[in-house]
Amino acid sequence: MTSPRISLAFHGTAIHSSSVSSIEILENTLITVDQQGKITNCIRPISAHEVPSTLAHLDPSFPAPSVRYITFPSFLIPGFVDTHNHAPQYLQRGLGQGMHILDWLSAMTFPNEARFADPVYAQRLYARAVSAFLKQGITCASYYSSLHGPATRHLAEACLAQGQRALVGKCNMDRNSPPTYIEPSVEASLAETKACIEHIRHIDPIGSMVRPVLTPRFAISCTAPLLSGLGDLATSDPSLAIQTHFNEAQQEVDATLSLFPEFSTEAQLYEHFNLLGPRTILAHCTVMSPDDGTGEMATLKRLECGIAHCPIANTSVGGGFMAAPIRTFLDKGIKVGLGTDSGGGWSSSILDAIRMAIVVSNAREVQSGGVEKALSPDEVFYLATLGGARVVGLGDTVGKFEVGREFDALIVRPNEVLSKEGEVVSEANGVMTPVETDESWRSIWEKFLVSGDDRNIVEVFVKGRCVKAST
Ligand code: GUN
Ligand code: FE
Repeated sequence: MTSPRISLAFHGTAIHSSSVSSIEILENTLITVDQQGKITNCIRPISAHEVPSTLAHLDPSFPAPSVRYITFPSFLIPGFVDTHNHAPQYLQRGLGQGMHILDWLSAMTFPNEARFADPVYAQRLYARAVSAFLKQGITCASYYSSLHGPATRHLAEACLAQGQRALVGKCNMDRNSPPTYIEPSVEASLAETKACIEHIRHIDPIGSMVRPVLTPRFAISCTAPLLSGLGDLATSDPSLAIQTHFNEAQQEVDATLSLFPEFSTEAQLYEHFNLLGPRTILAHCTVMSPDDGTGEMATLKRLECGIAHCPIANTSVGGGFMAAPIRTFLDKGIKVGLGTDSGGGWSSSILDAIRMAIVVSNAREVQSGGVEKALSPDEVFYLATLGGARVVGLGDTVGKFEVGREFDALIVRPNEVLSKEGEVVSEANGVMTPVETDESWRSIWEKFLVSGDDRNIVEVFVKGRCVKAST
């Protein structure tokens, strides 16, 4: 059998998660990628001078000068997965701090999202949003669009054109929304949902980059017949993902249960409508019912749902400082990833979400009298990469540097290198903690996680395609 043709080759250090709680540092590694964006070799240890002869053996047609040598202190990491992002809120990020969730939705969000009724506007804004998120290293996102079909189709097209992996969902909302931003009927909502699913499957028939996701916004904005219709769609089509907001804040949980008094928890409600399963992404999960073995934790575990942890939104918009019990979810083996919830919060950066996940887990440790230990850097990195990939159904496809997986990766470059004597060895734009010439990879990696920003994400690849090039 002949080896597949190589289209990309990288040599240097790559860092990824080897488990939920540990990273693996792959030094002196040669990674090759084929024309379909798949990793075909991950060879180590191999020194830089051995690379040309090894490549000549693997694929004699690959031009040796095209090898990318990533040298100290730069390194590769898997692309970031944003498991919860509202694309139409790109323009409102940061506004409405201090408001409770339902007031923020009425005052800020619904009027903003109503503007996406205009497909030309939607096309322009979505092109900007997708490009901005890619620049921040988000190689895969699970998007909520607005309730509009044409706008949603533009979002899927923008992801495909710019090369971002995405789940794209049209919001379903047929009640408790303003007259200018509400769907006229259950039938209209379901018909538009089906049209969007068909369109997404038409532009990407095998879902190699963009896939549809059912998106009942939350139970407050959906009538029972609409939830029922969406549950039927999910049941009849096992390849469809599902996403919704779940137990985000007390105000929202109380309002939900007063609309559906027959249920005592949101888990009971969404399970009743057949919306919970291994393809479901539940954003927030901050206020969970008591963990007595039969409560909501047990339901999410039993039904294999994934959680989009959005610590930025949970500590700003929403009403209070809400700290989701991530340590407990991880201990139970429940899938967890990070979400920016852009714009519920002030940032669309996964690096910021990583930091807030640490802060929130520290709060949880204090709150629980030390029982729920704070998250480690290794764990939050896992949530941002492989953990998120598992939540969006790509746990075997991306998230690690392994033969057979697709190459979604970031090249990270610290912007300031100092010698042991404090002399400047190299300098570029950025604010990341300076690194030293003899610093360990683990220490450099940790400095990037806690103090780097998009200026240190110098190149971004999705499925082997370069979507942000070094300037
Ligand atoms: N619940 C329902 N819609 C939204 C939204 O747009 N953002 C957040 N954070 N929560 C929601
Ligand atoms: Fe949200």
